[in-house]
Amino acid sequence: MSFHGKSLIDFQSFTPADIYFLFNKVSEYEKMENEGNEAFFISQQNYFLRKQACLLFLEPSTRTQLSFDLACRDVGLRPFVFTAENSSFKKGETLLDTLLNLQAMGFHLFIIRHGNENESLKELTKKIRVPIINAGEGVSGHPTQALLDVYTILRERKDLSKEKVLFIGDVKHSRVVSSNIELLKKLEVPYGFCGPRELMTQEALEGKYFPDLKSGLQWASVAVALRAQLERHNDVNFENFKSDFIKNFCLTKEQLKHARSDIMILHPGPYNRDVEIASDLLDDERVFIFKQVEDGRKIRRALISAIIGPE
Ligand code: CP
Repeated sequence: MSFHGKSLIDFQSFTPADIYFLFNKVSEYEKMENEGNEAFFISQQNYFLRKQACLLFLEPSTRTQLSFDLACRDVGLRPFVFTAENSSFKKGETLLDTLLNLQAMGFHLFIIRHGNENESLKELTKKIRVPIINAGEGVSGHPTQALLDVYTILRERKDLSKEKVLFIGDVKHSRVVSSNIELLKKLEVPYGFCGPRELMTQEALEGKYFPDLKSGLQWASVAVALRAQLERHNDVNFENFKSDFIKNFCLTKEQLKHARSDIMILHPGPYNRDVEIASDLLDDERVFIFKQVEDGRKIRRALISAIIGPE
């Protein structure tokens, strides 16, 4: 598949070769950096000169928005941040009509985070010519997070064939899990789930489900702790079982005694200290959270370049 001019909403049309194409693009870019290949960077900057991306973050973000902003600048694309609070959204303009107008202005790429179920990004791509990157949509997906998660694992392990990924905590309300499942299935990497039943989906309960952290950690080679998505808890009251959750599912040095010695610990962020992961674990060598953040900028740079860069 050629990425050129395409949107990234989910991984439906992806093959493993497409995924590794992006990962290789990250490595190629790094090689150019390490070699100090100024000619490459000047040609990139020239190519992107006068091209603009619009970042529409209609839900809060730190990592995704700022790493996309930096990734745009890395390749020479100019990022513009759309602020909904001071826009015609306030007058009732829809996302579709907003994008049609931004398209008419001449933007070359839209990077969108939103949670409005009535305006799915997939549907919007049928009406908008400008490529759209999904930067987190409701609970349905966060594909660039999944790409960076898998890239962080691959970079450390070199090969995914022996990995087993365990998602711990709020699986039910996590768009990160939705996209990771899609991606891990494509790459044939086994995955499982661990946490209280209230925070599991039916798919998780019927899949490789571990009701306790000990058995989950004994199985996994990678553990992904998930943020309790309080803003999406319309169906559960986390406060009612928060203390049990912390006792049973918060990753601590003590709990990690059940895991293999080289287990990788990931968290998409933002983490709740001492709820999903113990504060004193954050600087442990098994924890790759800041590596994930570092890789996020690189993956997004590669993706932008694949979508609207030189063919
Ligand atoms: N992981 C992630 O999406 O973080 P932000 O919400 O800060 O972008």
